[in-house]
Amino acid sequence: MDIVIASNNPGKIREYRDLLEPLGFRVFSQSEKGIDLEVEETGTTFEENALLKAGAVRERAGCPVISDDSGLEVEALGGEPGIYSARYRGLATEHERRTAILDALRDAPTRKARFVCCICLIDARGESRLFKGVWNGEIAQHEEGTNGFGYDPIFIAEEADGRTTASLPISFKETFSHRAKAVRMLTEHLRNAGLTDRS
Ligand code: IMP
Repeated sequence: MDIVIASNNPGKIREYRDLLEPLGFRVFSQSEKGIDLEVEETGTTFEENALLKAGAVRERAGCPVISDDSGLEVEALGGEPGIYSARYRGLATEHERRTAILDALRDAPTRKARFVCCICLIDARGESRLFKGVWNGEIAQHEEGTNGFGYDPIFIAEEADGRTTASLPISFKETFSHRAKAVRMLTEHLRNAGLTDRS
């Protein structure tokens, strides 16, 4: 069965391909299916944005579609940057966005934070399902580490030993992260729903 990932990000496509091809899916990016579409993320939640992306691509794909939306929520900042994680305060670089969060938390009563990942699947019948993974932790006092991307250098997961996610091996994220959890829910659903046949 064909499945389209509502993205053209090569890293994301590779991740989903590694995961879904062993289950019998043929995985395509949007462009591989000739879908030239940049969906505006106008939703107010991760769920809405994931659904928006998957819905728009599904209209043109004619086969099941997967999309995702993710970000960091910081408690003392009222959940910011949240759905604006990739463009927080209009700052151009990931380093600037991390610094903005560290500065904003200088006198904060709590440094609690969580990563969220919402995956949306629209299946062959057009039915949509959401899978949400959450990863709790806190914001470090300063940046540390070079692994991963985005906010990894300032995120200390609750399972970690005080080191930031960017200071730990990638296998740590693959086990505990918000994305890993959402992906496990997705693959479990695909297996349970009998959608993994090599048809
Ligand atoms: P998107 O889901 O590709 O739109 O990513 C949203 C943004 O959230 C990214 O650009 C990162 O800034 C942040 N983000 C999402 N997941 C992670 C993660 O696993 N580590 C660090 N930052 C992340």
